[in-house]
Amino acid sequence: MKHIVITGASSGIGKATAHQLLQKGYRVSLLSRSIESMNVEFSMENAQCIACDVRDYNAVNQAFAKCRASFGPIDVLVNNAGLGVFDRLTDGSIEDWHTMVDTNVKGVLNTIHAALPELRSRKGHVINLASVAAHHVFPNSGVYCSTKWAVAALSESIRIELAKEVRVTTISPGAVNTAFISQTHNEELLSEYRDYFAAGLHPDLIAQNIVLAIETDESAVISEIIIRPNRQNK
Ligand SMILES: NC(=O)c1ccc[n+]([C@@H]2O[C@H](COP(=O)([O-])OP(=O)(O)OC[C@H]3O[C@@H](n4cnc5c(N)ncnc54)[C@H](OP(=O)(O)O)[C@@H]3O)[C@@H](O)[C@H]2O)c1
Repeated sequence: MKHIVITGASSGIGKATAHQLLQKGYRVSLLSRSIESMNVEFSMENAQCIACDVRDYNAVNQAFAKCRASFGPIDVLVNNAGLGVFDRLTDGSIEDWHTMVDTNVKGVLNTIHAALPELRSRKGHVINLASVAAHHVFPNSGVYCSTKWAVAALSESIRIELAKEVRVTTISPGAVNTAFISQTHNEELLSEYRDYFAAGLHPDLIAQNIVLAIETDESAVISEIIIRPNRQNK
């Protein structure tokens, strides 16, 4: 069975994806900064939980070395770790902007750089979590949207440069009911968005689509999946 690495596996979409893949018998390496709860929840033989901050390239390399030591070369990399802090451009803090760019963009660059040689040699698969925010620019989320446009562009560059060597899938969800919105600290926006995200898709649904992309016949690649709640018009 394939060895699949998931970043941001302690919560939401990453956690749901890890559960479905483990149930199917895949070997899954779960990466997040906090691993205490993952160690309890994922105590099965085909799971390993590794502490890793994707913003730190050395930490990513060390984490991947641990992944390989237990489960062998990486076949699929799911770049899921990410966050959005919503605010007007005039009110946003530079720390929040840097955190979003460092996690959502540099984090993805770090993992891709660290895994690309073996993914190429094994005809592996990169799955990047973008968003409908990689297709539309929403108010109060200009920096978040910018990071997701960058993720989509990176996916596309892998596709056009390495199509014969690496499969790449971009997953672009609309609102999903996870802890995602809790990163926003503008109280006014938070009260506006909380119900919107609470009425979003169940993370299991996104996980099912990630599994579908992984299990699609090797002769084909699902390049992008856009999946929104049917009430969401953008
Ligand atoms: N929820 C939505 O509506 C929605 C819609 C479209 C796209 N997405 C995208 O889907 C992905 C997953 O989001 P989610 O909704 O599942 O959010 P979530 O429940 O908040 O989960 C985010 C995950 O990312 C991890 N993470 C954050 N910073 C990290 C870092 N520096 N290094 C390693 N891991 C880090 C968190 O773990 P630790 O804190 O333990 O590190 C957590 O496991 C994100 O890329 C998000 O942008 C979400």
